[in-house]
Amino acid sequence: MKISVVGTGYVGLVSGTCFAETGVNVACVDIDQKKIDNLNNGIIPIYEPGLEDIYKKNVEKGRLEFTTNLAESIKDADSVFIAVGTPPDEDGSADLKYVLGVAREIGKSMDHYLVVVTKSTVPVGTSMKVKQAISEELEKRGENIPFDVASNPEFLKEGSAVADFLKPDRIVIGTESKQAQKVMKRLYKPFLLNGHPILFMDITSSEMTKYAANSMLATKISFINDIANLCEIVGADVDNVRKGIGSDARIGNKFIYPGTGYGGSCFPKDVQALIRTADEHNYSLEILKAVESVNYRQKEVLFTKLNKRFNGDLKGKKFAMWGLAFKPKTDDMREAPSLVIIERLLNAGASVVAYDPVAMEEANRILGDKISYAKDEYEALIDADALILVTEWSEFRLPNFRVLEKLLNNKIIFDGRNIYDPEELEELGFEYYAIGRSKN
Ligand SMILES: NC(=O)c1ccc[n+]([C@@H]2O[C@H](COP(=O)([O-])OP(=O)(O)OC[C@H]3O[C@@H](n4cnc5c(N)ncnc54)[C@H](O)[C@@H]3O)[C@@H](O)[C@H]2O)c1
Repeated sequence: MKISVVGTGYVGLVSGTCFAETGVNVACVDIDQKKIDNLNNGIIPIYEPGLEDIYKKNVEKGRLEFTTNLAESIKDADSVFIAVGTPPDEDGSADLKYVLGVAREIGKSMDHYLVVVTKSTVPVGTSMKVKQAISEELEKRGENIPFDVASNPEFLKEGSAVADFLKPDRIVIGTESKQAQKVMKRLYKPFLLNGHPILFMDITSSEMTKYAANSMLATKISFINDIANLCEIVGADVDNVRKGIGSDARIGNKFIYPGTGYGGSCFPKDVQALIRTADEHNYSLEILKAVESVNYRQKEVLFTKLNKRFNGDLKGKKFAMWGLAFKPKTDDMREAPSLVIIERLLNAGASVVAYDPVAMEEANRILGDKISYAKDEYEALIDADALILVTEWSEFRLPNFRVLEKLLNNKIIFDGRNIYDPEELEELGFEYYAIGRSKN
């Protein structure tokens, strides 16, 4: 089989590479010439565990290629996947200009039957807009080439994107066409040998499924953060509460870890976009509105604790920050809580020395010399007034506290992910502030 994947970001690059791994010939397309040049020269633009190996292998085998030429990429293809970005528009709704722009390009150049699959996260009704855009372009050309559209939302997680794509919990396909179903079944069969299902449904439900899934996950995070804040007030420990509720199979123990709020390229924009969709239909999604406002508040929690500890006098103080990415195992910093904390600290006249195992380059691109970058986690601590842990990379879990003690000006830790043991730190003489744990 042969496919084209348009958009070579986290989703497009991982999807294209993983499809190639099953023997499919894949052309990955992007408008960013530099990205394509890099990919043609062995340079991968993102960090994603396991990606480099299968990328190299499939390029060598001649099954994976990179181009800016969309028209060329869809010649002889069975299917084309649209995996470009859908950033929030000014009013929070998903901006569809990239998706519909690609649909028009497809309509301008397709010359045989194609299944056009929307993999980007798009609001209800978008696949029909994709269909219309292609039809309009074909009409302009006076052509009547058959095609089908399908919605195929992607559920991979940054940080484990390759593993998630190769062994998905489920594949969701929305399409009205039997022929499109057949093509999708064939393409996805190799990924479903683990027994997990391919769920065919109508397009509207498929588009809605992706937003409902991300909104549910964001809801779990805001829920536990809200409970964590109350735990602190009443003197409970949210980690005990989390274990207490998570052992109930109806609740489950995943995604109920308190922290500094959700970030990344998906949850914030998808929650916002679903609220907008509901608003446009004169329905108010009250729960999601609360999820969003709890999250805004949560991104401030660590700074508020720190500001209180230093009596509102942060001018001239220096803070070490461990972790910049919005979560471990990724270099993605979109909507990362670290950015909010850094902004508050800088506005208060403090300085920040940060270390992140993979997101330093990305941080430098966004923040430049507003902060300093350390070569390792210990260097960041030298003469700092406190350590702020924002991203729970595994290498931060068991640091040498004796070294911390020597390097820091004060034995103070603000732990935004509750990864340290309060009793151990108390015994070692550290002042320890965490999220939703008593004694904070
Ligand atoms: N990142 C995730 O974890 C994730 C997970 C599931 C779904 N999604 C969704 O998938 C979509 C893509 O997300 P991403 O994180 O991969 O985005 P990204 O920003 O990493 O990549 C998007 C790519 O599309 C390219 N592009 C834009 N317009 C183009 C055009 N006309 N032709 C060709 N290429 C074009 C950009 O240059 C960029 O390389 C979004 O809708 C997102 O919500 C993302």
